[in-house]
Amino acid sequence: MEILRHVVVLVHLVGFAILFGAWVVEAVNRKRRFTRLMDWGLAIAAVAGLILAAPWGLDHDLNYVKLGIKLVILLVIGALLGIGRGRQRTTGAVPPVMFWAVGVLTLTNAALAVIWR
Ligand code: HEM
Repeated sequence: MEILRHVVVLVHLVGFAILFGAWVVEAVNRKRRFTRLMDWGLAIAAVAGLILAAPWGLDHDLNYVKLGIKLVILLVIGALLGIGRGRQRTTGAVPPVMFWAVGVLTLTNAALAVIWR
């Protein structure tokens, strides 16, 4: 059970890596675009995160305040990706605030996971 939980954490990390990695590629190339890969990364992190939010294969309690905040942040990232894609279709680029918010919020969720136990 514990090994299975670690596998789901790994899948969750892959989702984070895909989302953040895809975002960094656009930021470094100064493209300021949202891509399908970001949607996939978010979806993978979301599904694995929700599975991990259930208390199985653990010998300690989960921090549900932290998980609630992470879920809200994930929903905000999803909304930004959706709205940004709409803007991108009409103007060719995502507004800078939206683009940077997705990177900062993604990193915030990773920091919450690692720093706040
Ligand atoms: C963009 C969204 C998210 C990112 C970038 C993210 C990032 C991470 C990272 C980097 C870890 C590994 C931490 C470690 O093992 O030291 C982690 C663990 C975890 N995440 Fe997420 N996460 C996200 C969304 C969520 C959501 C929505 C949930 C559930 C509501 C969730 C639940 C968990 C749980 C239960 C763990 C296991 C460790 C712990 O209890 O904190 N995550 N996350």
